Amino acid sequence: MWGSILSIARPKSQVLAGCGKARHKGGMNRTPHHHPLRLRRSVLSVPAANGRALAKSRTLDCDAIIFDLEDSVLPEKKAEARAALVSHFAALDRTSGREHVIRINPLDGPDGALDLETVLACMPDAVLLPKVSEPQEVLTVADWLSEAGADDGPRLWAMIETAAGLLNLAAIAEIGRTHGGRLDCFVVGLNDLRKETGIADMAGRPFLVPLLLQVVVAARASGLDVVDAVFNDFSDEDAFEAECRQARQMGFDGKMLIHPVQIEAANAAFGVTEAEAAEALAIVAAFAAPDNAGKAVVNIAGRMVEKLHADQAGRLLAKVDLINERKTKT
Ligand code: COA
Ligand code: MG
Repeated sequence: MWGSILSIARPKSQVLAGCGKARHKGGMNRTPHHHPLRLRRSVLSVPAANGRALAKSRTLDCDAIIFDLEDSVLPEKKAEARAALVSHFAALDRTSGREHVIRINPLDGPDGALDLETVLACMPDAVLLPKVSEPQEVLTVADWLSEAGADDGPRLWAMIETAAGLLNLAAIAEIGRTHGGRLDCFVVGLNDLRKETGIADMAGRPFLVPLLLQVVVAARASGLDVVDAVFNDFSDEDAFEAECRQARQMGFDGKMLIHPVQIEAANAAFGVTEAEAAEALAIVAAFAAPDNAGKAVVNIAGRMVEKLHADQAGRLLAKVDLINERKTKT
């Protein structure tokens, strides 16, 4: 989709032409990238043109905020929204432990390049690319950021919300294996996907589940995090909780949200219950016990537990630590 972009005006004549080709050609920069564990249970979208929502976002207990310059901002409000973000980021508390992400417009439209300039001015933790359909779209932005001097700057997240993006999932996800590709996370966009494909919006998402699972599997194959789509009916708490449960069971790390009222339920659904934490501690303790030294498989109360379960338990306990750390900061 963004293949036709020839250039984005840059100070010092940096241009997009050729970006994402030279540095990644022929398997260059293929060092496996290890993604640090991050909390992405609740990922709230905040329209950048909505001053009240921007102000409110400072007070909310979500794991990540997506400041949206794309679909929630009218074309005539885009410039104002970019300016509002620059002011907002200038006064942002970067010690909150929350991730701050900017969703830009597609680069083949009138706003994408201007949005990238705003990204440089704001230096968010990540940039969310909309409607990603091909790996080159991610590589182009990764290289543009590097060439703009933002070597330690924003990571990239990709919205999977087009039919082509679903068909190219594995190739897009693979960018996450390299440090230079910057890709950390997939976010599913079902409003766009339903619009393009005609797949029905039904309780339980019966015809979407097979596609959602493909996104989870592709993400995991490259070590990416994966966040489920927004649930539009923010006044229906029960249906939202059910969809969060379903997403957790499918393997998602969290949910993209549209309204503050959804944060608590998402944090709970994608968090760690006391029973889960207790079980994880028991598994880690069992493998640490002298009697079990050198064993790959142990018996805990009549259940087979393998070393891989201990690794899984360790990761869950690390997540508990992150959740507790966040609580002390908010
Ligand atoms: N982020 C931060 N604050 C938000 C918010 C959001 N996404 N949505 C609502 N709020 C705030 C409101 O500003 C209001 O606070 P205030 O009284 O201090 O101004 C409070 O929460 C209650 O809002 P409410 O009156 O219930 O909703 P609304 O009518 O103002 O907004 C929506 C409803 C759906 C228009 C709004 O939630 C929204 O724009 N959501 C995000 C849409 C989006 O990002 N879409 C793109 C991704 S799919
Ligand atoms: Mg979309």
